Amino acid sequence: MSNSIKPAALILLIVLAAAVAACNGSPVVNESDGGNSAAISSNANSNGVVAGAASPVGTQPQSLMYTLPAPRTDGETSVEEALASRRSHRQFEQTALSQEQISQILWSAYGVTYPGEGAFQRGGLRTAPSAGALYPLEIYIVIGNVDGIDPGVYKYISEDNIIELVVAGDIREELADAALGQTMVRDAPATVFFSAVFERTTERYGQRGTSFVYIEVGHSAQNVYLQAEALGFGTCAIGAFTADRVRELLNLPENEEPLYLMPVGHKG
Ligand SMILES: Cc1cc2nc3c(=O)[nH]c(=O)nc-3n(C[C@H](O)[C@H](O)[C@H](O)COP(=O)(O)O)c2cc1C
Repeated sequence: MSNSIKPAALILLIVLAAAVAACNGSPVVNESDGGNSAAISSNANSNGVVAGAASPVGTQPQSLMYTLPAPRTDGETSVEEALASRRSHRQFEQTALSQEQISQILWSAYGVTYPGEGAFQRGGLRTAPSAGALYPLEIYIVIGNVDGIDPGVYKYISEDNIIELVVAGDIREELADAALGQTMVRDAPATVFFSAVFERTTERYGQRGTSFVYIEVGHSAQNVYLQAEALGFGTCAIGAFTADRVRELLNLPENEEPLYLMPVGHKG
């Protein structure tokens, strides 16, 4: 997978350049880790930090996206080992995750593994199965402590291996409150969040499609459990949260239903 800036991002950059030049200086393309990742922002300093980006929770942020390092398709832990040792972990060290590590976790959740050259909808076939290959899930990552990435809520664009900012700032404390005070969400450096656009599946499968979506988030979440275990990290599926508050905190579109949270980090 390419680490260079994608055409869509380039167009965005040009548009931002025009807007920013009119008021506030030139846009900056940040390639702070030797080209493994790229942040595009309209008003960043030399560290790639967007000036004033940490706007209050729920407001519309400036455009910011990172191309993640390419995920690995090999590793040191067998599937059998990961299955045998997997447990839900609820205590996390306050240690940062790397961009490679969050890339790997997100890829396990819903990464494209077979683009199929346009033969499939929504970017191609993925790490998790999906009824009719319709892929109703949307995957986000709530970042609090990841090397070189500004805290915020990011949407995972799996076909491009990109994360795109949707809410700026560290919302882990508020999200933990929304998860009925489960402090693992506050302590973990990052939390994977799953929502779904049910219509993608119910349009074809009717009422049965609703069940399919719930089944599918289980597939994707189990991938995260096993990938986290294989990397030596802990995670825990969280279904206990106030959906309306989570929707508000993550600025979810109307047609997306919040389903699951999975904090990920070094086991505490
Ligand atoms: C649908 C679902 C919702 C869950 N919600 C929570 C939760 O809100 N908080 C929590 O601590 N664990 C939650 N869990 C994790 C379970 O408590 C855990 O899987 C169970 O205790 C078995 O332990 P194990 O995962 O270590 O095998 C949830 C699991 C599932 C499948």
